[in-house]
Amino acid sequence: MVSTHALEAQNTGRQYLTDITPERSPNQSLVPLTAKVNDRDHLEIGGYDVTDLVQQFGSPLYILDEASLRTACRQYRDAFKRYYPGESQVLYASKAWNCLAVCAIVTQEELGIDVATGGELFTALQAGANPRKIYLHGNNKSLSELKFAVESGCTIVVDNRLEIETLASLKTDSCIQIMMRITPGLDCHTHEYIRTGHIDSKFGFDPNQVEEVFKFISQYPSLSLVGLHAHIGSQIFELQAHQDLGGVMVQWLNKATQHGFTIKEINVGGGLGIRYNEGDDPPSIDEWVKTVCDGLIQACQAANIPLPKVLAEPGRSLIGSSCVTAYTVGSKKTIPGIRTYLSVDGGMSDNPRPITYQSICRAIVANRMSEPMTETVTIAGKHCESGDILIKDATLPPTQPGDTLVVMATGAYNYSMSSNYNRLARPAAVLVGNSNAALILQRETYEDLIRYDRLPAHLK
Ligand SMILES: Cc1ncc(COP(=O)(O)O)c(C=O)c1O
Repeated sequence: MVSTHALEAQNTGRQYLTDITPERSPNQSLVPLTAKVNDRDHLEIGGYDVTDLVQQFGSPLYILDEASLRTACRQYRDAFKRYYPGESQVLYASKAWNCLAVCAIVTQEELGIDVATGGELFTALQAGANPRKIYLHGNNKSLSELKFAVESGCTIVVDNRLEIETLASLKTDSCIQIMMRITPGLDCHTHEYIRTGHIDSKFGFDPNQVEEVFKFISQYPSLSLVGLHAHIGSQIFELQAHQDLGGVMVQWLNKATQHGFTIKEINVGGGLGIRYNEGDDPPSIDEWVKTVCDGLIQACQAANIPLPKVLAEPGRSLIGSSCVTAYTVGSKKTIPGIRTYLSVDGGMSDNPRPITYQSICRAIVANRMSEPMTETVTIAGKHCESGDILIKDATLPPTQPGDTLVVMATGAYNYSMSSNYNRLARPAAVLVGNSNAALILQRETYEDLIRYDRLPAHLK
């Protein structure tokens, strides 16, 4: 679907914001839901002029729109209530962006949290998340992570036999709640690195060995197998694999029942894609939830079993489109007949997605919103790495050093995968909305960069 603004943009060659209505699914929008062009002709998010935010909080800057994140949480939650007659619980896959403020917002929105390490678990607990709604994932959890999760009262999503043995060896007063992650063996189209559902995956139990694993678990009375888990992959636009997942999981559930387990919960993972550029056309949150629910309901009806509690753990589609990264434009290098590089003050350290997954994102110039897009430039980061390119051949209005360039949809797997490569300090993050622009992650300083360095005596 081409929006009116997009058509206008095609005709005038101006930058545009996608046609947004409150009903629209945040994951289908290139920009946060509150984005608009203000009377200074600047991009505004959450009621704040992006250039003012950069002036106040510095550059680069992650700008997180609270309204978009909360809308996505509510759309997931409400859609499950609408389409699933049984119990449901949405979890936030916090690997997408784990920090205190984000964990606190999703907790307020009644979501649970999926954590993948002790560090993510610690953050979620510190943010006030209910441990009964926290699920610990990971293909190689350490003993201390397992102990921490058990002591906190979380559910552990077991991934291998070693972990089952380790959990069974822990001294506890009550049973340890576990779910079992199984590789679904469903293929879908996404980047190889973010595809986890096909058989050749480091995650989960081989689906051909589930019965042996059920037998293995049943040796340990201190472990209570309450649920089954599968995650197909990430940034998925097709619905078919999610439709089919219900049938696959109900087959496993029946096998578990035959082995004497009462499976109360089915976790269908996350995976819904988002719009990173105009070419992306993901299904809405509503469509995804409906598909997942239909698949599971039909499979339960066919097997004549009651509906289990359904859990889903989206990450990217909850937070990805809620955030943009603002950079300051710096040097420009034109190689006649070849290309023009436009450099910004961040790059692969704050947004590793383009170099890792060759993902294509979209940028706009926040202080030139109504100027015609007449330049084609390749937006380069400032790292000592030729591959540090944020966007190849971006169409922009002509820029000047000091302009504010905004890369869209950077809420998921940007801050959480950020690094200090080249000893670049991590950017700050600001939460905007409710007439408030609040710092949620402080900008790192040079001092922070050497905080954990130690100089042995003989080097002093
Ligand atoms: C087990 C698990 N659950 C949930 C997610 C979240 O996926 P997404 O961000 O695509 O929704 C992931 C990420 O790949 C995952 O590995």
